Amino acid sequence: MFIEMIQSFIILSCLFATSVVGKSPSENGYISKFTTTKGSDANYLLLFGDSYSRIEFNIHGKQPSKDDPLGNPAFPGDTTSGGVNWVGDLASIYNKSLTLVYDFAVGGATIDQKLIPPPGISVSFNDQVIEAIPYLTKPRSVPWPGKKSVVAIWFGQNDVQQAVIVRHDPSSIFGEAMSHYFANCEALYQAGARNFLFMKVAPIYKTPLAVVNYTSEERDALSAGCDEFNNDLDTYAKSFGGKHPDVTYHIYDPNPAFTDIIDTPKQNGAPDSLCFNPDGTTCLWLNNYHPGVAIHKQVAKDIAAYNYFPSFFTAK
Ligand SMILES: *[C@@H]1O[C@H](CO)[C@@H](O)[C@H](O)[C@H]1NC(C)=O
Ligand SMILES: *[C@@H]1O[C@H](CO)[C@@H](O)[C@H](O)[C@H]1NC(C)=O
Repeated sequence: MFIEMIQSFIILSCLFATSVVGKSPSENGYISKFTTTKGSDANYLLLFGDSYSRIEFNIHGKQPSKDDPLGNPAFPGDTTSGGVNWVGDLASIYNKSLTLVYDFAVGGATIDQKLIPPPGISVSFNDQVIEAIPYLTKPRSVPWPGKKSVVAIWFGQNDVQQAVIVRHDPSSIFGEAMSHYFANCEALYQAGARNFLFMKVAPIYKTPLAVVNYTSEERDALSAGCDEFNNDLDTYAKSFGGKHPDVTYHIYDPNPAFTDIIDTPKQNGAPDSLCFNPDGTTCLWLNNYHPGVAIHKQVAKDIAAYNYFPSFFTAK
């Protein structure tokens, strides 16, 4: 495992090195591995994130297929919604064709655990990419063609909470986190990724935890932290897109999806907007920090409705 990580790290370093000396992706020998498998019309969705996106997928287990687009554990995976999460919804309801999902998200994850430590033991974005890259490059165990794939990235729920509430970090920490975030995107680009969905942090100042247990000063600080994180994401995404004209990227803001459901609890099967229940359906929240199935479904629905990637997802 450790050796594997070192090897992967070396691969990543090489990828960075090639980009530094200015070789084009096709010259580095990786891009050719991502031509579409002949006769296959599957799309691919790759996920990096935290508990809001995790299904507990194990890359060594059963692979995603037409029988189960999430691979393992069995659909909808081990989510934190009480049922299907936004990943399962997006890939099975709003998909335009068979969509095979490789979900590397891990609960508790921050972008870089050396910069903003997670609340517990976790695997940060940096490490998720290090884990993913070897499967996507050599030998190609995942048939992952860049243009037939969307890479979706959703962080911030732990970064902002930890930085603002737990650590009292300066707001400049988010800019630094973003430089690491986009170094990971650069590695994914070098490995063939061309379609990126960057997801802004959810309005975590609206969770039952924040509304019930935080002071209004803490909530304001959390909200300001989310704005800072999201502004930095905008800035860095624009610069990444500018550097790579062959990249298609979109920035999704989950705020409207969360707010739509939070503002209408009764229409969504809940007595109010603050209760939580592990079934994920009789309240809007699974627990005091994790949204239930209605909010997840609205996130997927909005992503499809915005028509960001028309050959992948469609409104319903
Ligand atoms: C969407 O995904 C589901 C689950 O893999 C699959 O059964 C369905 O056929 C897919 N829809 C389309 C239009 O391919
Ligand atoms: C608020 O904090 C109390 C005491 O720690 C805890 O018992 C309660 O579950 C918390 N409520 C929410 C909504 O987080």
